[in-house]
Order: sequence, then C-alpha cells, then structure tokens
Amino acid sequence: MKIRIIKEDITVIKGESLIIPLFEEKEKRPKFFKIIDKKLNNTIIKLIKKGYFRSKLHEIYLLPTYSKIGAENVILIGLGKKKEFFLQNIFQILGTVGLYIKKIKFKNTILPIYEPFLSYLPKKDLVKIFTQELFYAKYSYNKYKSEKEKDGLEEIIFLNDNTRELTTLKKEAKMGIIIGESSNFARDLSNAPSNEMTPAVLAGEAMKISKKYGMKCTNFGLKQIKKMNMGAFYAVAKGSRNPAKLIVIKYNAGKRNQKPIIIVGKGITFDSGGISIKPGKDMEKMKYDMAGAAAVLGTLRAAAEMSLPINMIGIIPATENLPSGNAYKPGDILKTFSGKTIEVINTDAEGRLILADALAYAENFNPSLIIDLATLTGACVVALGYHASGIIGNKKELIEEIIKAGEYSSERVWELPLWKDYFSQIKSDNADIKNTGGRAGGTITAAAFLNNFINDKTPWVHLDIAGTAWIEDSRPYIQRGATGVGVKLLIQLILNRLKK
Ligand code: BES
Ligand code: MN
Ligand code: ZN
Repeated sequence: MKIRIIKEDITVIKGESLIIPLFEEKEKRPKFFKIIDKKLNNTIIKLIKKGYFRSKLHEIYLLPTYSKIGAENVILIGLGKKKEFFLQNIFQILGTVGLYIKKIKFKNTILPIYEPFLSYLPKKDLVKIFTQELFYAKYSYNKYKSEKEKDGLEEIIFLNDNTRELTTLKKEAKMGIIIGESSNFARDLSNAPSNEMTPAVLAGEAMKISKKYGMKCTNFGLKQIKKMNMGAFYAVAKGSRNPAKLIVIKYNAGKRNQKPIIIVGKGITFDSGGISIKPGKDMEKMKYDMAGAAAVLGTLRAAAEMSLPINMIGIIPATENLPSGNAYKPGDILKTFSGKTIEVINTDAEGRLILADALAYAENFNPSLIIDLATLTGACVVALGYHASGIIGNKKELIEEIIKAGEYSSERVWELPLWKDYFSQIKSDNADIKNTGGRAGGTITAAAFLNNFINDKTPWVHLDIAGTAWIEDSRPYIQRGATGVGVKLLIQLILNRLKK
C-alpha cells in the first residue's frame, strides 16, 4: 500500500474519497468541515438537518461531490456522542470505513489529521493506527473461493500541514502497514482449514518467515518430542496421523546479554476433543485452536520486519487432538518435561497439556518473561464474551503493563485472579495434578494448572484468547472469522517498553 503525506488545500486535493468523521455535537466538528461544506453548497449541513445523516457511531454516508471539490466523493462517518467516544472507537470506525471502502472498491482515500482525535493520541500514533486499521480492513479470506474478492485500497493520502513531520509520520505509517499485514498473516493461518493447516504446514510457515526476516527456526518432530521427555505434549500428539511439531523461533536483535522475551502459542491445528469427543455443533471452528500459535508467528514477523531491537523467542507446540486407537485416554497419567505428573480427566483439556511442556521448556532459555497465548477455555467466553481476552499471571506490574498495551492497541484484556484458593480444584488422587478443575472458574483453574510449570521467579502471564480470536456475529467494523488477536497487543507492549 502506498502512503502519501502531503500539505495541500483540503478542497483541492484530488482522490476518490475524502473521509470526514463527525460527532453528533455540532460544536465538535472539525475546522475544515465548514470550508468543505460551503464548497458543496452546504449539502452536508442540509443532510444533517433533514436527519438523513445523524452522526450515530458507525453510520456511513457517501456523498458524490460532482467536482465541487478535488475529491470525487466524501465519506461521512458518524462518531456518536463525544462524551461516549473513547480510544477503542477510533480503531472501530476505521474498520467501518475500511470495510466500506472495500465494498465500494475505492482504490485511494484522503484522510485529514482529524484534530478532535488528537486528544486521545499523539499525531504519530494516529497516523500509525489509521494506516494499520485500513490495512487490516482490506483482509478477506478467499483462498478457496473460485471468485476472489479483490482487496481494494492501494493508497492512503494523509493531509498534514507541518512538512517537518514528514519523515516521522512516514515511518509511523510504515509500521502501521507492517502490523496490519502481520495481523492479517495470523488471520490467514487461523482461517485455514485443518486439512491444509497441519502441524507440518504451520512449521513450514514458521520456517518461511524465519528465512525471510533473518530469524533462526528449529522444528522438532514427534520422535524428538518423546525423546525430550515432553510426555504431556507427546500424549496429545500420538493419536493423530499428522505428526506433531515443536516449533522454536529465535529473533535476536537486542543486546547480546539481554534475556529474551518468550512467547508461547497453543498450536492445536484441530481440536476434536479426542476420546472425550466434542459435540458436533460448532466443531468446525476448532480449526482456530491454533490462534495462539498464529499470534506468536505474526508478532515475530512484525518485530523482525520492523527490526525492533529486542531478543525474542517464539515456542509453539503444534498438534491435532484426535481420537484413535493410539490416542491418550481419560485416566492416563503423564510424565511431563518438568518431572511433574498429570492425571488426564478429560482429553478435551489438551491445550494445557501441550503448554505444560512448552512452558517448562521455555524456562530453559533463561527468559526475562514468558507470555503464553491460547484458545484455552470455553469458560473464558462465558466470563468475558468476545470483547476481551482473559489475562492471568504471577506479577502484578506485568499484568498492568499488558492491560495498558491492550487499551492502546484495541486488543483489550481483562484480569482474572490467580489466588491459591483455586489450586485445590486441580489436585489429583493419583498424580501431582489433574487436567480439569470442574466447571467453576474454568479459565482460572486452567491458568492455575499452567502456573505449575512456571518458576515462581519468572514473570509470566497467560492470555486466554478463546473469545477474541474468532468473530462469529456481525459487526460493522470487522469481518467474521479469525481476528489475528495478539499481534497488535504484543507489538504495542514491545513498543511501549522501547520508549521507556
Ligand atoms: N479449544 C478448547 C477451548 C475453546 C472453546 C476455544 C471454545 C475456543 C472456543 C479447549 O481445548 C477445550 O476444549 N477446553 C475445554 C476444557 C474442559 C474440558 C475442562 C472447555 O473449555 O470446555
Ligand atoms: Mn479441547
Ligand atoms: Zn483446544
């Protein structure tokens, strides 16, 4: 996508569309509004007065200008009431506009730096987010459709008065594109059906981005997983004909002695539940049970393409969870990489098993912190719905840091407690712990389970993305399917740290 940032008269600049965001309150209209509307014979004001455009949040109106100004069309986008408008809405209305532009097949669009938004964000972040979200909205998953939707937008033209800011703003826009692209890459991985996105294919994708962006990638096969004593990961993997992979990617652009950030992603390429098989309804969605893995790959891809000066390691246990004559069974006792034993109560609680070994393995790299992302529990969808990922961890400051990054990146997270009281639910009669803790507090007991494989001294957070990795309902600002959640959040976390 091309980005132009120029200083020009808003009524003269040429393009297919000019985006004008409007609050309901008329005193909150931008300065350029009057100037443009005057050229348009006060058409917009008339539309508003007649009630054809009411500036409700996400409301859109396309107005051809018949050459009265340089732009061929004006896109009015409603912002609702100023006092109800917050940072999250900036991301969302860009999604709405982006999807609209895609539908109507515009190739370019003009965006003024909209001054009412500068009370929410500095200008450079605004340019980054505008670019990122318009790029994100271009996405559609049509790999397996004979008729492909063309992804429209090719150029964004920003209007900015101060020519001295040009280089900074260009750089920010470039970052926006990289983050948008990397989120879309993660969406592609999660949307792919499990017959195409096998553990081997996922490992191949990891290898591809590693080669392209100069990272080191190692993929271990099933035999090695067994040999490395990852008994829990191996148990989940052994029932499947498609062999499992342990994917490890190292990105080293930080100081030599700087401890790495480790991100671990659940990579279940299909979750049938195994012997504790799931009901048929909605089972097709379990192809996105590797969304955590997708987020890890997307984040590494973005960090490497931006050359962020950090050390980061991505670890992905990737396997299917299927029933077969060779599948693991309820009642089985597994010996993990850490040495602890686990009694299997339900083979559908497979995510925590593969993560148990991946997290204990991560500790070997002497990390500065560990973040895991997993579509781990249906209980998280019950608790938080589709608008926040669950966050649970062992260090308050790290949790707060990630909550902040979530608000600033639109990928919001909400904390659940990791009190010792919950740990009794996963005590086992026959082994050190068991893999389910009953219905009550299912997201928390899953995290408590994971906590068993983390050293107390290592700052660690777990993100349950079961409700945020996939969108099923219809929303004006985002299309259905995989969201690529985690990429924007983790990159924001890193950018915030680098600013300090
Ligand atoms: N992958 C599922 C969790 C899930 C559910 C993700 C819905 C996305 C949408 C996970 O492996 C699972 O099956 N969890 C069980 C755990 C239970 C058996 C303790 C669940 O949530 O029901
Ligand atoms: Mn499961
Ligand atoms: Zn699962």
